[in-house]
Amino acid sequence: MFLDALPADVSVYEVSPRDGLQNESAPVSLEGKRELVGALVTAGLRRIELTSFVSPRWVPQLADAEALATSLSVPEGVTLSALCPNAKGFERARAAGLKEIAVFLSASETHNQKNTNKSIAQSLETFAEVVPPALASGMRVRAYVSTVWGCPYEGDVDPKAAIDISRQLIELGCYQISLGDTIGVGTPLKTRDIVRSFLSEFPADKLALHFHDTRGTALANALVGLELGVRDIDASVGGLGGCPYAPGAAGNLATEDLVYMLHGMGIRTGIDLDKLIEAGRVAERVVGRKLPGKVHQAGPRVRRVA
Ligand code: HMG
Ligand code: MG
Repeated sequence: MFLDALPADVSVYEVSPRDGLQNESAPVSLEGKRELVGALVTAGLRRIELTSFVSPRWVPQLADAEALATSLSVPEGVTLSALCPNAKGFERARAAGLKEIAVFLSASETHNQKNTNKSIAQSLETFAEVVPPALASGMRVRAYVSTVWGCPYEGDVDPKAAIDISRQLIELGCYQISLGDTIGVGTPLKTRDIVRSFLSEFPADKLALHFHDTRGTALANALVGLELGVRDIDASVGGLGGCPYAPGAAGNLATEDLVYMLHGMGIRTGIDLDKLIEAGRVAERVVGRKLPGKVHQAGPRVRRVA
């Protein structure tokens, strides 16, 4: 393997309005969220995770999920999705008019318990009551499996556990499994081994990769996944993000960093990098703090010194 099998196109799945904002300590206004989503759409993002229909007691930052989803109209070809932990979340998402939802659980018991108050088996039972009616109502369902690279409570996680969970989610009808390095502990060789073990069980289009950049390895891990044939990468503008129930989790792979690298290698994304950088500035303004993304800070091209 030496960058000789990269894809021509990559689908970027933008998670900043959900994964990014779920972790912000200062409240972000509904108007600020609307502005962020508008800027992402203008930049050419076509798959955006808007919010979560979870318990507002657990994630108060996203308590305005209905108001946000019902106040937006996006152009044809843009899909808005939202996290749903249970039947109540699905009903809320359907009532708000969403056409896609994402169910989520962890490959490690302790993180799943802390994040959703359920065992892995209970989460899978819950999804068996969510996914079929969601599909019957015309929705698409994505799924996340978190802590595949490591758990903040248990340490190393056996990839076989994540593969077994993923198989059950695909059998239920989820169109894609996003594998999460929730706390950003992955390094390229470990990523190679994990992705290869998944690809020996599932076709590449069933998989997406979701890296948090806690230790600066998200982009390197994404590159390994691309070289192995995965074409769906999750990212968050400016590097916003984290998980309220995974202590120490930093933001996601920054969308600008991913797109800069992809375009620099001639890989198409359908995204306008300059407009994406504008969206990052909107994100920075609405959260009221500096964001960590590298391209967000440095800009997209050489600045000549006079
Ligand atoms: P629970 O407290 O066990 O829920 O929470 P319950 O079923 O016992 O119900 C308790 C109350 O919550 C009831 O209300 C329910 O109606 C209400 P009451 O009768 O007391 O008034 N409730 C809800 N309200 C609104 N929407 C709902 C809902 N469900 C129940 N959907 C629950 C269980 C799963 C709801 C809770 O644990 C929860 O919401 N957890 C979500 C936490 C979360 O969003 N974490 C972050 C996302 S995951 C992540 O970041 C990882 C990811 O990015 C990938 C990666 O990085 O690896 C995806
Ligand atoms: Mg995440």
